[in-house]
Amino acid sequence: MKGFCKCIFILRKPFTMKILYTFFVLGISQFIFAQSQSVPKVFLKDVLTFPLGASVNPRLLDENVTYRERTGSEFSSVTAENHMKMMNVHPGADRFDFVLGDEIVAFAKNRKQRIHGHTLVWHNQVPQWMKDFQGDQVAWENMLKNHIQTVVAHYKGKVAGWDVVNEAFLDDGSLRPTIWSDHIPDYLAKSFLWAYEADPNAILFYNDYGQDGKPKKMQAILNLVQDFKNRNIPINGLGLQMHVNIGSKNEAILEVINQSVATGLSVHFSELDVAVNPKNNPDFVYDDVAKDEQLNKFLLLFNAFKSIPKGQQYGITFWNVGDKDSWLRGYFKRPKENPLLFDDAYARKAAYNVLLQTLK
Ligand code: G3I
Repeated sequence: MKGFCKCIFILRKPFTMKILYTFFVLGISQFIFAQSQSVPKVFLKDVLTFPLGASVNPRLLDENVTYRERTGSEFSSVTAENHMKMMNVHPGADRFDFVLGDEIVAFAKNRKQRIHGHTLVWHNQVPQWMKDFQGDQVAWENMLKNHIQTVVAHYKGKVAGWDVVNEAFLDDGSLRPTIWSDHIPDYLAKSFLWAYEADPNAILFYNDYGQDGKPKKMQAILNLVQDFKNRNIPINGLGLQMHVNIGSKNEAILEVINQSVATGLSVHFSELDVAVNPKNNPDFVYDDVAKDEQLNKFLLLFNAFKSIPKGQQYGITFWNVGDKDSWLRGYFKRPKENPLLFDDAYARKAAYNVLLQTLK
């Protein structure tokens, strides 16, 4: 009784009450914070019959805890957005730099995620020394072969598949003039053969954008596949980048998917984003109408992918994780763009839950 009275006496002191009150409020807010941060239990990647991927940026993986957590928990496949490209991995004629690419690989391996390699041969993000390279055809071939085989060998057994050549055709179906087409006849076939020599188990892709509504470009890609088959040049897959927007024509998208499936090769929606403000309207509002239109495109694409024969489903990869990391905002400088499945704070958009319910 004496002890109880002492307790009441202490509690009545204003200072003690204040401290207790503070602890109480802190406890409640911690609880609310923990609830809002709690890791969701059901993941879209787990209801899909194919890998769900994202391209990633090693700086964000280092600096941003939420980015790291989302990338690690929401995706089963990872692509380096920039850090396996020529400019980054091969900065000098005699110098390769795999540090940041390796960071991505280590991140993914720790989480048992598949790693997709992007990209061995492209006309963009080429280091200056390659652009300035001097030599005859043999010298050019040795230079490109050395690049491809060093990179593929470095990641052998870690990278499941490679975008061997990226964006080699123009919209009219002609071969894009690049330093590669200028100096190395038949450079596409040679690149695939060199990649195959370095890792016969890697799944080798031709990757391109904007095939929908560009029948000549799509035909050039189909011709390439047929030509490779006729000549026994190894090719295993087609990457459809799928940088589409809410106005893209559904029939045109479905047609190129069907044409790709008909080749019998693996199909990868390799860089998916659905732009909501393609004309970069400064007054654009990401309202419910835009969100619904975007959701309909996501549904169309995921349902179409789901109907591809299982053996040909390489997966769907988003081009980065949260809206604010999208190349459309950074590279294209379109600040009012929200093309991905996670918002600026990496929260799941409503579309995520609809996909989850529809596809499970
Ligand atoms: O890392 C440098 C940084 O050091 C520098 O301060 C800054 C200044 O501009 O540039 C940074 O590099 C940028 C890099 O992205 C990393 O953010 C480059 O300038 C910028 O050109 C580069 O853009 C990339 C673009 O390819 C280059 O064409 C985008 O991030 C990347 O999303 C984009 O990806 C391509 C695919 O590989 C192929 N398909 C199309 C797709 C979109 O263009």
